[in-house]
Amino acid sequence: MASKRKIIMDCDPGIDDAVALCLAAAHPEAFDIVGITTVAGNQTIEKVTENALRLVDFYGLDIPVAKGAGTPIMRPPVTASDIHGKNGIGDIEIPETDRKTVPEHAVLFMKKIFDELPEGEKITLVPTGPLTNIALMFDLFPEIKDQVEEIVLMGGAAVGGNVTAASEFNIYEDPEAAAIVFRSGLPIVMCGLDATHLCGVNRENAADLVEHGGKIAAAVGGMVQFYLKSPAYKEKDAACIHDAVTFMYLMHPEIYNGVKMPVSVDCSDGPMRGNTLCDMRGTVPEEGLTVTVLMDADGSKFQEYLLEAVRMLDAKRK
Ligand code: BDR
Ligand code: CA
Repeated sequence: MASKRKIIMDCDPGIDDAVALCLAAAHPEAFDIVGITTVAGNQTIEKVTENALRLVDFYGLDIPVAKGAGTPIMRPPVTASDIHGKNGIGDIEIPETDRKTVPEHAVLFMKKIFDELPEGEKITLVPTGPLTNIALMFDLFPEIKDQVEEIVLMGGAAVGGNVTAASEFNIYEDPEAAAIVFRSGLPIVMCGLDATHLCGVNRENAADLVEHGGKIAAAVGGMVQFYLKSPAYKEKDAACIHDAVTFMYLMHPEIYNGVKMPVSVDCSDGPMRGNTLCDMRGTVPEEGLTVTVLMDADGSKFQEYLLEAVRMLDAKRK
């Protein structure tokens, strides 16, 4: 397993964002999450921010949360309540918290973290929502890029899409932001649908978490069960936990197959809007390529490690 990393998680919780944070919370030996920033996506900025605050307490974490962009750069936000529910986390009630967001906007909060970072240290960005905050930060403070270790993001697909035939939700929601991030020149690991469609939790395991677990396992199991009732999954045996692939990749890169390739984001108004055009020909020399696209995953290992983490955190917080 790789050594402990300093992380900023930029998210829109979101069922799978919530499960991703659970995975990270179960592994404090691997992740030092120095900040959580929120972005409108699966639900409104108010709802996803409230979810982030509650989840931090629920998982027994003490991480500052900053509220970020409430709308994509060019378009109004479109939420995904059919998949994530009215409250954004499968209508599972996470206990209320007194925790408040920091006063700064997410972008200024990240800037502060980078400013205070000890000389020579770097931070890994883990975005699991639309890339609005990250793009705004790179645009306003390009010098921050020197302090970014890498970006391990959930978004995009080499083949197909989920929100449209051509596009994955996080990229489709704010393609202009995604284009800025993909052009940043920083090392990016794109945990897109090619890998995340193989990484899920099945009905039997979700039910087991609900029936035999404590409060954290029951909440995670309940969220997955909500996912499984949504139009996207009702015919399927397992729900993809897309966002958890980011942290899983950081801990267990050996269960993925990543390929470096040129990736560009379609910002047109046509049917390809939000598409991540991945050049899979293998003809472009690797030097100079910055994006690694996860093309394959060992889904059974993913499920095993994820359930292990949920149960571990659950037992710790009983
Ligand atoms: C992505 O879209 C959101 O609905 C999920 O939280 C995930 O980040 C999957 O396409
Ligand atoms: Ca998400």
